[in-house]
Amino acid sequence: MSEIKVEVGGLKLRNPTMSASGILDNSADLLLRLFKGGAGGVVTKSVGKEPRKPYPGPNVVEMEYGVLNAMGLPNPGIDYFCEEIREAIRREPNICLIGSVYGKDPKEFSELAIKMERAGCKAIELNLSCPHVKGYGAEVGTDPKAIREICEEVSSSIAIPIFVKLTPNVTDIVSLASAALEGGASGVVAINSVRAMRINVELMKPVLGNVYGAYSGKGILPIGVRAVYDIYRELECEIIGVGGIENYKDALEYIMAGAKAVQIGTGIMKKGEKIFSEVANGIRKWLEDHGFSSIYEIVGIAQRK
Ligand code: DHB
Repeated sequence: MSEIKVEVGGLKLRNPTMSASGILDNSADLLLRLFKGGAGGVVTKSVGKEPRKPYPGPNVVEMEYGVLNAMGLPNPGIDYFCEEIREAIRREPNICLIGSVYGKDPKEFSELAIKMERAGCKAIELNLSCPHVKGYGAEVGTDPKAIREICEEVSSSIAIPIFVKLTPNVTDIVSLASAALEGGASGVVAINSVRAMRINVELMKPVLGNVYGAYSGKGILPIGVRAVYDIYRELECEIIGVGGIENYKDALEYIMAGAKAVQIGTGIMKKGEKIFSEVANGIRKWLEDHGFSSIYEIVGIAQRK
């Protein structure tokens, strides 16, 4: 049997699939559902210091090759959410939870990360890349100096691994990854969604209530694979690949580009939570059929061609 257990940036996963932040992940029940569906790791919705309400709708619009959304980082705030995390762990002590947080400065990020660690998360994901919320996410996440400072503060405050989720909405994503690692991050998550919008021609106005949104799903797969390939080529660091994965072959593209694990978000909307066991089993079978004994043997293999 080929081995698909994997360790990425010090985070141990029973298989290389993880859920991406933002889909079916804002309560203990939903986090458990994703883990039972086979996810190796389950990432929470991004949580901030205070509760936030969603933007006015429409918030989510399906299109040919993906989904456009502008939720507005809705969440109940860190203190409430940590109770959901504790409840999930009480009911399933083996669940591997990764706490996603967003904040406005290094101190806020580290306070949130400390609370997530105390609640029982196995790693922290810093959402430095929400494409359309003012003052959070992409505004700090496109500045290498801000990324480094946030990572320095968080890595000196907690003991669990830290991953930085990077925005693709920049010219040079490698420099963002490099800043994260310099600041003490264990690895990077590439990519977050792509800044985008659509216009309803009959109504003659933008489709989303927030005008601007974030594009995810199959349409962004080539953008994500390219980002992972470039980051791995330059830095050979720990990478979690995400963007447009719907089957095991999509996941293998990311792994062959240099990722050790992958996240699936929009794919859950299409196939439900069984997508995790489907992708994990597909990877295992592919490794077996091709004579590989572990996933590590193919990480970054496409770089050598
Ligand atoms: C939202 C946040 C994100 O980080 C993202 O990539 C897309 C949407 C949101 O909550 O609106």
